[in-house]
Amino acid sequence: MLLTINKPQVPPELLAALTNARRIVVFTGAGMSAESGIATFRDKPDSLWAKFNTREMASPDGWRKNKNRVWAWYEGRRGAVLQTEPNAGHVAIAELSATLQNLHGQPVQVDVITQNVDNLHERAGSTSVTHLHGSLFAPRCMACECPGEFIPGEPDQSLMSLDPPRCSHCNSYIRPGVVWFGEAMPQGPWRHAEDLVDICHVMLVVGTSGIVWPAAELPINAHNLGKFTAEINPAPSELAKYMKVQWTSSAATGLPALIEELKKLKP
Ligand code: APR
Repeated sequence: MLLTINKPQVPPELLAALTNARRIVVFTGAGMSAESGIATFRDKPDSLWAKFNTREMASPDGWRKNKNRVWAWYEGRRGAVLQTEPNAGHVAIAELSATLQNLHGQPVQVDVITQNVDNLHERAGSTSVTHLHGSLFAPRCMACECPGEFIPGEPDQSLMSLDPPRCSHCNSYIRPGVVWFGEAMPQGPWRHAEDLVDICHVMLVVGTSGIVWPAAELPINAHNLGKFTAEINPAPSELAKYMKVQWTSSAATGLPALIEELKKLKP
């Protein structure tokens, strides 16, 4: 039996908008890394918040009550990221600028703004990546905020409890470098993200449910500022109504197809 895989139909309006853009923001969420085997938070029965309690695993209170449990959990997630690779979607984003520059010879800046705490955009070659919710790779001291060191060796994903390391400056505990519920967003990345949205021509929104604030504000701002907005998601998100194009596709299928179509275009 011949299996035909339907190539996603790239929306022509999106192609046109990208060929005219000189500054592009790609705003990503957990769906961006789903095809690298990294769990999302909400959209599937085995998503993280279907299995774990946000107050226990992702809040200052949860950390106070059970540091070892929380540290082990984030180390397990870091281990999963270390054991996987960026998917074709991450790679396509890293290729977007060069692909457009080859098309029309003009410089094109592509900036990634991500809610993800993995490092898959950077490992795929993206050089401008702003993390709104922190990173699994940036632990810091819970007291003096100094950058922390991981315990050497591959993180063991099976551990349910693990002592967090200590700060080399003040000996307090090192905490995961992620933004927990109830914590303020780091202002530097937030302001930078706002500036990038102000000056972009096109915003691609990939793999987010669009329900977590204030991050979800950025695509809505782009819409209100009249930017060309397009969503790539197998299921329309809360942001779909703010999009000029809602493309029902996945990150690792849609984005490479977009690059392929752009490469076919004549200058
Ligand atoms: N390609 C594109 N999109 C996908 C894919 C895929 N392969 N698989 C799932 N999606 C979409 C889902 O349809 C859903 O809209 O990705 C989205 C994932 O939504 P969430 O799990 O809610 O993740 P996200 O939007 O990133 O969550 C925001 O919530 O828990 C906090 O801090 C955490 O940064 C996170 C924030």
